[in-house]
Amino acid sequence: MKNLLKMSDLSPAELTHILDVADQLKAQQKLGGTAPLLAGKTVALMFSKASTRTRTSFEVGVYQLGGLGNYMNTAELQAGRGEPLKDTARVLGRYYDCVVWRTYRQSDLEEFAELAGVPVINGLTDYAHPCQVLADLMTIRERRGTLAGRKLCFIGDGSSMANSLIVGGLLAGMQVTCVCPESYRPAADVLMFAHKYGSAFHLLSDPAEGIKDADVVATSVWNTAKPGTAESEQRLRDFVGFQLTGKLLEAAKPDALVLHCLPAHRGEEISSAVFEQHAPEIFDEAENRLHVQKAVLAILLANK
Ligand code: CP
Repeated sequence: MKNLLKMSDLSPAELTHILDVADQLKAQQKLGGTAPLLAGKTVALMFSKASTRTRTSFEVGVYQLGGLGNYMNTAELQAGRGEPLKDTARVLGRYYDCVVWRTYRQSDLEEFAELAGVPVINGLTDYAHPCQVLADLMTIRERRGTLAGRKLCFIGDGSSMANSLIVGGLLAGMQVTCVCPESYRPAADVLMFAHKYGSAFHLLSDPAEGIKDADVVATSVWNTAKPGTAESEQRLRDFVGFQLTGKLLEAAKPDALVLHCLPAHRGEEISSAVFEQHAPEIFDEAENRLHVQKAVLAILLANK
């Protein structure tokens, strides 16, 4: 494992190893702290978009592992005044042992990783959110013991969360159903990957059909446009029927877990009642960002 840019960078064995290390680090943290696995290491935490969980969980995680994490907003770097990001990559790679970057285009992240010469972690792009999906899988395994064979249903926009949950769930041996409106489908390469798993994967456009007998139901924000804009109004129309309500959830298994990567738009992708009923696992999921990212850092930087 050289970088973590997307879920398909991982083999099933690497995925399981990350979750195992995350479980160990979580248990150690609860008992008082972990060994300083990042002592002397530096991590650049570079954000081109807003973040609560990704930023703070990396900041706290690097500190807990004994390293130095520096947050930087790309708008405040020379990159914000036009310095090419490929030059920023070659500079930061000389100072830091690892770079976490939240940006827009996956291709920019991939190019950055090639030039930086140090491990790069995707903190969210328009295509993938691997750190979030590792936390989701950790949360499911923690609460249910195993992942293989369990039915995971994602309902919403076929963007970064859908792309990463499909790949991550299938790598973990889960049965994955993705339910999106026709014009919000996951990325073509993700669908090609998924189709190799045959009947373990289904792509549907009817939430009531997709959610049937699900062990885990995941959703994320689908009204990503600025409120009041034409795009926001269009999305509200396109996603009619894509709200995770108590009624819809009745078709899932009675003890189904509900996951949401946050922030949540109550009354859009999820009802307030479902959100509050499932807050225990949703906030475990948020907490597990910390533990699973510590595992990724420890593995990527081991012996470097
Ligand atoms: N889930 C997630 O990535 O949260 P933030 O946008 O707050 O980092």
